[in-house]
Amino acid sequence: MRLDKFLAESDIGRRKKVRTYIKEGMVKVNGDVITEPAIEINESSDVVEYLGKAVAYTGKVYYMFNKPRGYITARKDAINKTVFDFFDNVNMNGVFHVGRLDKDTEGLLLLTNDGDFEHQLMYPQKHVEKTYFFWALGSLDEQDREQLGQGIYMGKDEMITKPAKLEVQKSGMYKEFKHEMPIDNLCNIDSNHYNQSVVAGYITISEGRKHQVKRMLKAVGCYVVYLKRASIGGLFLDESLKKGQHRFLTEVEIQKVLGK
Ligand code: URA
Repeated sequence: MRLDKFLAESDIGRRKKVRTYIKEGMVKVNGDVITEPAIEINESSDVVEYLGKAVAYTGKVYYMFNKPRGYITARKDAINKTVFDFFDNVNMNGVFHVGRLDKDTEGLLLLTNDGDFEHQLMYPQKHVEKTYFFWALGSLDEQDREQLGQGIYMGKDEMITKPAKLEVQKSGMYKEFKHEMPIDNLCNIDSNHYNQSVVAGYITISEGRKHQVKRMLKAVGCYVVYLKRASIGGLFLDESLKKGQHRFLTEVEIQKVLGK
């Protein structure tokens, strides 16, 4: 195994960081300073030290997390609680989130210490599909579905989006769906607005631009009020995980999400 990979999978830091540590002479292998990140080592017999301390190989970890709304997808935040606050008694050194969900978005979030895994899922050219369930104010018709399917122009400095797939599940007046909508206080909608049209469904995108689903739906006249990521690639959120809970991915799930 490569030395930089060994260190990245041993709680020392992400691949980019550990390469710097190696180049700066902070790492020894069997007593010798090594400055070449790509050197091959034997993880069971070689002794690797970082800043004079032996490094124990932890291996790769992959978590599925059911993100609740209200939490920032980041390790630390000066004001808000973050998704890492749910991993209090877990050693999260070297672990990072794969992509990001907005503060008010719920659902499937993956965390890992495997940089290659992140790359496979996040690299735009890989076109990994992500499906979201949404509730929005407004309505969606066949023309909107076609427009989303052709790609959306979201601003002058941005390329047209890749095609999105839309599956409308429910559509009607707020008064009909009020009790099904998973949000308590729907942005000032009171009984005077019972005739506001609402729509729910699934949208599948294969990119990860900032607020992409909200902006794509806004472009076709809908205002998202609830968003939950349901799947990434072929991997679905385990609905037995309560909001804020996590578990390890199984080997089968890791292969599935990578499309293997
Ligand atoms: N698209 C959004 O608008 N928000 C998210 O959190 C994820 C996708």
